[in-house]
Amino acid sequence: MSTTSPQSLAVFTSGGDAPGMNACIRAVVRTARMHQLNVVGIRRGYEGMIDGDTVFLDERSVSNIIQRGGTMLKTARSARFMTDQGLDSAAAVLRNLNVSGVVAIGGDGTFKGARAFTSRFPEFRFIGIPGTIDNDISGTDFTLGFDTALNTVVEAIDKIRDTAASHDRCFFIEVMGRDSGCIALWSGLAGGAEEILLPERNTNVDDLVALLRKGSSLGKSSSIVIVAEGEQSGGAAEVAAAVRARLPHVDTKVTVLGHVQRGGSPTVADRILGAKFGTWAVEALLQNVHGAMVGVRDGKKCFIPFEHAVKSSEPLDPELYRINRILAT
Ligand code: F6P
Repeated sequence: MSTTSPQSLAVFTSGGDAPGMNACIRAVVRTARMHQLNVVGIRRGYEGMIDGDTVFLDERSVSNIIQRGGTMLKTARSARFMTDQGLDSAAAVLRNLNVSGVVAIGGDGTFKGARAFTSRFPEFRFIGIPGTIDNDISGTDFTLGFDTALNTVVEAIDKIRDTAASHDRCFFIEVMGRDSGCIALWSGLAGGAEEILLPERNTNVDDLVALLRKGSSLGKSSSIVIVAEGEQSGGAAEVAAAVRARLPHVDTKVTVLGHVQRGGSPTVADRILGAKFGTWAVEALLQNVHGAMVGVRDGKKCFIPFEHAVKSSEPLDPELYRINRILAT
């Protein structure tokens, strides 16, 4: 261990939980222990950092969690961490525990917090791990939890399709994604949706009605429309009402999948991503790499400075949308 290596390393999860966070915590703890570091788990994200809600973790503390959804460290969104008082209390807690390296698992809000903290207290070294089902962080192709959420959504679409076809109905299925249509786009294509409505595109009800009419004229007796939570006209209920007003003979139904998308046992892809991210994050701190989020780009490890690890402004892959348009005929 070099002289700049942390004495103790802390790990926490923050923001919305995501499947694979536990697999990632396990990787952080076991990699750190292999390098003889003490590991402190901070409960409830930045809230727990302020309150000193911590627990020492060793190899056995993270047994039997690889398959569990949620996060064993719990999570929270913290308004107090945006105040000087909150930052000062958190610094006192970390100093008291002799922590200098911190692994922060969460979304863009988590990394904003890390930046605010380390610009006030540069002696602490933070490395970030993207954990959010939304897959909306710049610089990484995938975030932890996205694949599991997609599989949950597609399983639900398949089930709804059974009843939609049996009753000749049109279902509007709302999926998560306040600011991002990633879950909607990927699950819509995988679930064979007639149309996918995204926060990133304006919804045109005329076009949607025309598309549903065309489907009907081509012999479709049921249809599935995936609506992202952040869709601009207000979500699935609003879009369904607008369509119902124009097509009163169509039997429309709305299903909001909600927080079921955040839970469940992580998929193989999320367990592997959690293992990679957790191991890479600790190794990065040991090599004095910090102030950045670890990510994957084209299958390879990369580091994105916190100032660029923000909500993605990259447009969603237009190819997925184009292909769905072809296949939904
Ligand atoms: O960021 C993940 C996410 O699940 C979003 O898709 C969703 O809009 C939001 O969190 C919901 O947050 P909460 O659980 O705090 O209501």
